[in-house]
Amino acid sequence: MHTFSGRVLPYPLGAEGDFLPRPEDLERLATPRTRAILVTSPLNPLGTVLPRKLAQTLLAFARSRGLWFIADEVYDELTFDDAYVSVGSVADPGDRLVAVYSFSKVYAMTGWRAGYLVVPLDLSELLTGMQEPIVSCVNTPAQMDYGGPAVPGLAGGRGPDSG
Ligand SMILES: Cc1ncc(COP(=O)(O)O)c(C=O)c1O
Repeated sequence: MHTFSGRVLPYPLGAEGDFLPRPEDLERLATPRTRAILVTSPLNPLGTVLPRKLAQTLLAFARSRGLWFIADEVYDELTFDDAYVSVGSVADPGDRLVAVYSFSKVYAMTGWRAGYLVVPLDLSELLTGMQEPIVSCVNTPAQMDYGGPAVPGLAGGRGPDSG
C-alpha cells in the first residue's frame, strides 16, 4: 500500500456489530479518494463469517462508490458454525472484485508463499505483468510439491472428496 502512496483506514469490528463490518462505518469512512475496501471472511482471528445478505450489502456499497472490493477468503474451508459465503458467489459480473486465496491455511502450507487471486480478466492481465518482475514465480519446493504427495488435494481440485 505504501509503495503506491496509499493510506489504510481501519474500520471497527465490535461486539455491537457481531464483529462484522457495519455498512454505516464504511459510509462514514469512505471519501472520494477511497479506492477499495478490504473484507476478510472467514475472519482471522475471530472466525466470523460474512452472512450472504451482508456480503450483498457491502458489494452494493462498493459498486455505488466505484470501489474495488478485495475479499480475503484465505480461510474459506476453515469455518466453525457458520457456512462460508464466497463474495464472488453473490457478485454481479461487472463488479470490481478481487478474491484472495492462500494455500497457507487450507493446505497447511504456511510459509510456502503460494496462493492465487480471482479477478476480472483485464485486471488479471495487468497483475500478471506486475508480478513477473516482482515475484517471478513461487519458490522451488512449492513448485515441486504442487499436486504431489505433500498436497494431495491440489492434484484433483479442492475439498474433502478431491484427494
Ligand atoms: C486473513 C489472512 N489473510 C491472508 C494471510 C496471508 O497468508 P499467506 O501470506 O500465508 O498466504 C493470513 C495469514 O495469516 C491471514 O490470516
